[in-house]
Amino acid sequence: MTSKPLEAPLRTLMGPGPLDIHPRVYRALASPVIGHLDPAYLALLDRIREQLQMVFRTKNALTHVSPGTGTSGMEMCVANLMEPGDKVLCCVHGYFGARIREMAERQDADVTTLEAEWGQPDDPSAIEKKLKDGGFKVMTLVHAETSTGVQQPMEDIVRLAKEHGVMLLLDTVTSLGGVDVEIDAWGIDAAYSCSQKCIGSPPGLAPITFSPRAVDVMKSRRSPVRGWYLDAQLLDGYWSGRKYHHTSSSTLHYGVHEALCLIEEEGLAARITRHRRHHLALVAGIEAMGLSMFVAAEHRLPSLNAIRIPDGVDDGKLRGYLLETFNLEIGGGLGAIAGKVWRVGLMGYSSSPERILFFMSCLSQALGVQGVSTDLKAGLAAAMSTLES
Ligand SMILES: Cc1ncc(COP(=O)(O)O)c(C=O)c1O
Repeated sequence: MTSKPLEAPLRTLMGPGPLDIHPRVYRALASPVIGHLDPAYLALLDRIREQLQMVFRTKNALTHVSPGTGTSGMEMCVANLMEPGDKVLCCVHGYFGARIREMAERQDADVTTLEAEWGQPDDPSAIEKKLKDGGFKVMTLVHAETSTGVQQPMEDIVRLAKEHGVMLLLDTVTSLGGVDVEIDAWGIDAAYSCSQKCIGSPPGLAPITFSPRAVDVMKSRRSPVRGWYLDAQLLDGYWSGRKYHHTSSSTLHYGVHEALCLIEEEGLAARITRHRRHHLALVAGIEAMGLSMFVAAEHRLPSLNAIRIPDGVDDGKLRGYLLETFNLEIGGGLGAIAGKVWRVGLMGYSSSPERILFFMSCLSQALGVQGVSTDLKAGLAAAMSTLES
């Protein structure tokens, strides 16, 4: 029997992530593997830290990547800032806010949850009411809720956290590198992201950053961080102290470095504008086709677009048809909105005019197969006119 290698199919990725990556990132991923203490690797880590400080808009010295996907960054932030009995306010407006809460509970923190309806952001006046109870050490928040396509407005929440002296832990998994994130200006104490969304490299690494205040809190912990691998200070012993911590993957680091170089070359502000323009073009096109968005215009997240599934459409069949017929992947709904929305990612290299037009055409065809007609011509014209404006 001859063994045949299993090749990955060539897809167009337009779900919640991973997304398509730039050919330069693929080339960087083919770099020779080098040892984790090779001087060339240590220089690469220094460069990645500078690049992450640029995208996070921070001067935080404790800025690097956690070994693992976005969830490892989440776990690192939660495990390092929280100790048993700490009062924590978890703001939940979707699937990922709930995941942070679950992690906080596993740290035996004294968790209070504030829930907002899925499709809405967290409400600052409700947060203020809770904070008035006093004694909270940390508040957790998702900036870009990938499960719903909602972008959390930050201004009021940042003010409240300052007024009440609460540390802010922010999930920027679907915003960093595509939507404005201002770690220092907002006074965020701990934030994490992932490598595979707006940053534009494959999954496997989680950018993280901790403020000097968060570092002080870690240094004065009553108990060691639960979990050795994600102890931020031990990991910093590798990044800053050049000591072995784990066998870090040079392959993934060369990939994320190249993706970050692409962000530097484009300019972060220009990239954020591109993400917004393409989001608006998609929305204009979708609405002109006769479909509707799940989230109100003022709370929509540019990187993740939630489109309502028209009544009578079989979600699983439609997404299967897109994958089989056009090699096109989009996301389905999660949790409370499973079967009700499609989630369409426009992130990083994948946020491009050609993908928007391709997606609309494929969607129109797939809906037609299920007997739902859409005005594709009007949709394409509306998207094009936004792209050209
Ligand atoms: C907002 C948010 N937080 C956390 C995660 C977890 O990241 P990962 O799947 O890379 O572990 C995701 C994944 O999509 C996410 O969208």
